Amino acid sequence: MNETIEHLLHHRSIRKFKPHQLDPKTVEILVRSAQAASTSSYQQAYAIIGVEESALKQQLVDVASGQAYVAENSYFFVFCIDYHKHVLAAEIASGSVDRTVETTEALIVGAVDAGLAAQNLVVAAESLGYGTVYIGSLRNDAAKVSELLALPDHVVPLFGVAVGLPDQEPGKKPRLPMDAVFHRNTYTDDDTMRQLLSEYEQETSSYYGERTDGRRTEGWVYQMAASMKDPKRTYMRDFLQEKRLARD
Ligand SMILES: Cc1cc2nc3c(=O)[nH]c(=O)nc-3n(C[C@H](O)[C@H](O)[C@H](O)COP(=O)(O)O)c2cc1C
Repeated sequence: MNETIEHLLHHRSIRKFKPHQLDPKTVEILVRSAQAASTSSYQQAYAIIGVEESALKQQLVDVASGQAYVAENSYFFVFCIDYHKHVLAAEIASGSVDRTVETTEALIVGAVDAGLAAQNLVVAAESLGYGTVYIGSLRNDAAKVSELLALPDHVVPLFGVAVGLPDQEPGKKPRLPMDAVFHRNTYTDDDTMRQLLSEYEQETSSYYGERTDGRRTEGWVYQMAASMKDPKRTYMRDFLQEKRLARD
């Protein structure tokens, strides 16, 4: 164990922050940490938008179904897939990368790159004593976010990250048993997996039961079965294609 691993294992999302603003130097350190992440083929296929204007933050709260901590935080970042700069680079070099950046493969590369950069930023922020929460609900209306942030073609918003001084001390959410996510050599058989899921159902059911004074009794298994029953944000494929991504 060391300090880095202790920080990682201590992670929990924070959804209530003390009034405070990040100073520009800290913003820079966080963004530089994000940029230090590995990146597929050196592409750096992501953009990070720092949302600083409170009116703009408030409009993102509306997109995120009223989650107040999208505005009430020390700083709000939006992570995007970004191939706009590659299109410009190709233009400078009198070439074209349009066919490449419009593939599903490029979409995966951009999403992975953005995720790695974001998690670096989150780990850096948490190491400085800040709390964080990702905000995927920005995709409730990705077109609106795109318009608000003036994102050009080949740039799509994936999620936000709110950073701030924690004003709550939530417990850590139990993760799946390690054997349900870590498979040695080949994927675990279904009987073993069902057993692991049943154990996890019990554990998370008790966890939620304690956190809600018994009002909530279903654990992760039933939560997933219910929350993933109907597909979400099914407009996304059309939106991506309008933004000239994942066309091929
Ligand atoms: C990509 C992504 C999007 C998320 N979107 C939201 C969100 O919109 N609102 C929210 O309150 N939490 C959001 N979360 C936080 C998750 O709910 C949280 O990480 C998960 O329940 C595990 O809890 P923990 O982070 O406290 O361990 C998101 C997390 C990720 C990674």
